[in-house]
Amino acid sequence: MRFGSALLAVASLAATVKGFWLGDVAHQGLAPFAGANYPVFRNVKDYGARGDGVTDDTAAINAAITAGNPCNRGCTSTTTTPGVVYFPAGTYLISSSIFPAYFTQLIGDAGSPPTLKATANFAGFGLIDGNPYYTPVLNWMSVNVFFRQVRNFVIDTTAIAPGTAATGMHWPTSQATSLQNIVFNMPATGDVVHVGLFIEEGSGGFMTDLTFNGGAAGASMGNQQYTMRNLKFNNCKTAIIQLWDWGWTYAGLSINNCQVGIDISAGGSSNLNVGSVTLIDSSFTNVPVAILTAWTTNSVPATAGSLVMENIALNNAPVAVKGPGGTMLAGTTGSMTIAAWGNGHRYTPSGPAQFAGAFDATNRPGALLSNGRYYTRSKPQYENFPASSFISVRSAGARGDAATDDTAALQNAINRAVAESKILFIDYGLYRVTSTIRIPPGAKIVGESFPVILSAGGFFNDINNPKPVVQVGSSSGQQGQVELSDFIVSTQGVQAGAICIEWNLASSGTPSGMWDVHVRIGGFTGTQQQIGQCVKQPGNAAVNPNCMVAFMAMHVTRGASGLYMENVWLWTADHDIDEHLNTQITIYSGRGLYIESENGPFWLWGTGSEHFVLYQYQLANTRNIFMGQIQTETPYFQPTPNALVPFPPVASLNDPDFRASCAGVEGNCAAAWGVRVINSRDVSIYGAGLYSFFDNYSTACSTFTAGQTCQQRITSIEGSSSNINIYNLNTIGTREMINRDGARVAWFADNVNTFASNVAVYKSG
Ligand SMILES: *[C@@H]1O[C@H](CO)[C@@H](O)[C@H](O)[C@H]1NC(C)=O
Repeated sequence: MRFGSALLAVASLAATVKGFWLGDVAHQGLAPFAGANYPVFRNVKDYGARGDGVTDDTAAINAAITAGNPCNRGCTSTTTTPGVVYFPAGTYLISSSIFPAYFTQLIGDAGSPPTLKATANFAGFGLIDGNPYYTPVLNWMSVNVFFRQVRNFVIDTTAIAPGTAATGMHWPTSQATSLQNIVFNMPATGDVVHVGLFIEEGSGGFMTDLTFNGGAAGASMGNQQYTMRNLKFNNCKTAIIQLWDWGWTYAGLSINNCQVGIDISAGGSSNLNVGSVTLIDSSFTNVPVAILTAWTTNSVPATAGSLVMENIALNNAPVAVKGPGGTMLAGTTGSMTIAAWGNGHRYTPSGPAQFAGAFDATNRPGALLSNGRYYTRSKPQYENFPASSFISVRSAGARGDAATDDTAALQNAINRAVAESKILFIDYGLYRVTSTIRIPPGAKIVGESFPVILSAGGFFNDINNPKPVVQVGSSSGQQGQVELSDFIVSTQGVQAGAICIEWNLASSGTPSGMWDVHVRIGGFTGTQQQIGQCVKQPGNAAVNPNCMVAFMAMHVTRGASGLYMENVWLWTADHDIDEHLNTQITIYSGRGLYIESENGPFWLWGTGSEHFVLYQYQLANTRNIFMGQIQTETPYFQPTPNALVPFPPVASLNDPDFRASCAGVEGNCAAAWGVRVINSRDVSIYGAGLYSFFDNYSTACSTFTAGQTCQQRITSIEGSSSNINIYNLNTIGTREMINRDGARVAWFADNVNTFASNVAVYKSG
């Protein structure tokens, strides 16, 4: 209640807002490893851009991006040279591509998004080219492009002739990237060949709140996996062309007046390129063919082209699914809703059974829904708040130099912001803390291009007495609400007892939220967990105790409830981002995301958890959980050593005890679980990519020819669990895809997909 009235008090200031607060606050971001005077924040107008719709602003914008020499052509990757390139409202005429550097965010005024307008003679592959072809290969290896955002823009190609090839944005990137609040305007008439968004590869990723108007295709995309929600397509010839994928989750699509909605027919029936697509809570209006597929009962590979749809509204969409032989699912010239329909292999709960048709829709818990759809909320950008509503941590005395102990300064800044009903702005920096940072109810915290809270010292190094680095809510079940966005929690040096985030807060009514808040452990400058300390040693099963870097990424405790997570990547580094060859490292983090909330609800939109020793996701004694798309990877060093070391199982945390569960099991059984569900109910996973690419740093095990032998098992459903639904489960490198109480449910070779094995529908019963 008190919080509510404080909100009103801040809102009353909103009437005075002119520009976006991000442009108006003091710019004090410090990149401690980039040299003195390195500019974190860049307003394009300070670099000569006019935004008047007449002047060619290309050079000025690229000058704003390249100031201080961040990671551009020929640079592998970096965390040391962040950039926030800010565009005030206006129309910026450009004649060639804008090239955002690695770890550079392009951010427009959220209240009045600026337009990037291509000249009639525009030259380039994308008005924004996020990964250029300076040579025949992409400048950055697409699967290693992390920590980049573009938000709040209108991208306009309407001045380019409809028949001239034009691309709004080129974005082959990977985890911890996001596009938000972007409109793509293209010609809508004639023989238009423009494409709004083009992605050819990568390991994404998340996008939300995009609108595509006109064009031959709104989006033409291939990538391992993605989560995309709230995308609108108006008057495109084809809304989405799916070039290839393993798994893709779409929610909240609104496709209107397009000839084809989603074309997943790439490769044709004899060589399907699209592994799987999960589509929920979406609508097609005035669309002759909603889904175009090449799947047949005999198409190749066996499970490729798997399609799972749930809660799809058709309004004048006469063909819902069209295959090579004609209509597979009729639509209507009126209105109807498809409750659930799919094709592929299903296990309900045993299988495989090939199917193409309706199936029982998930029994969705009401706690997860808003107007019948899964609840969503985009990252708040606070565009109605003036700069005076923000408190800077640096103004409050924190240094962010990765060396100073910032514990007290950071804590005081958080407390003051909450007491004054202000939003805490974490200026870019690496804030070293030596005891727990507590985030109380009422906190709203937003970072400047992923500042880092970095735990350090003996307080976090007791494996028998783990401590949270960031604790949200002081005790499990404390009531209240917080909003956290755009920062990273990490550790420095040996931290065998660090729990990066402990979530205790119980939020009823409006959920709390985490948007683009990541855990990134090791592999970057300032962590002292890089090639110098922890370079990989294939074949060496002896654990280097100096490379035990975290106990757990995130713990959601029993009394916690009501948390919305969007684009959250929990990553123990497999390689050194700041080393020019991206050399691999061996560091040990115990556990990924552990949820033991008694009641839920939790929403995990576009999350990943990678390289934790015991498991990536574990749910125990919990319920009411939405997950989609999730992505995991097993540590590359396993089984040398395997998951029996170096984190002994803790019974009170329901840790897997591989010594017991692997007795008599063949192969690499003592390997990290991708997903483990114990005594839980009402859990729905809409798309999962559970990958185990390596055995002792060799990828030879992760092919069908080799028999997917990297590990034996990857998904475990245990105990009294019920109403566990997994759609489009894609596994790589594991022999058994799903286990129920230790018994094998699904076998990799029965479910061959393009690169993974796929089960379109699993229902535990
Ligand atoms: C692990 O890989 C290394 C390097 O290829 C090799 O020398 C070693 O024999 C392997 N060890 C095991 C147990 O497979």
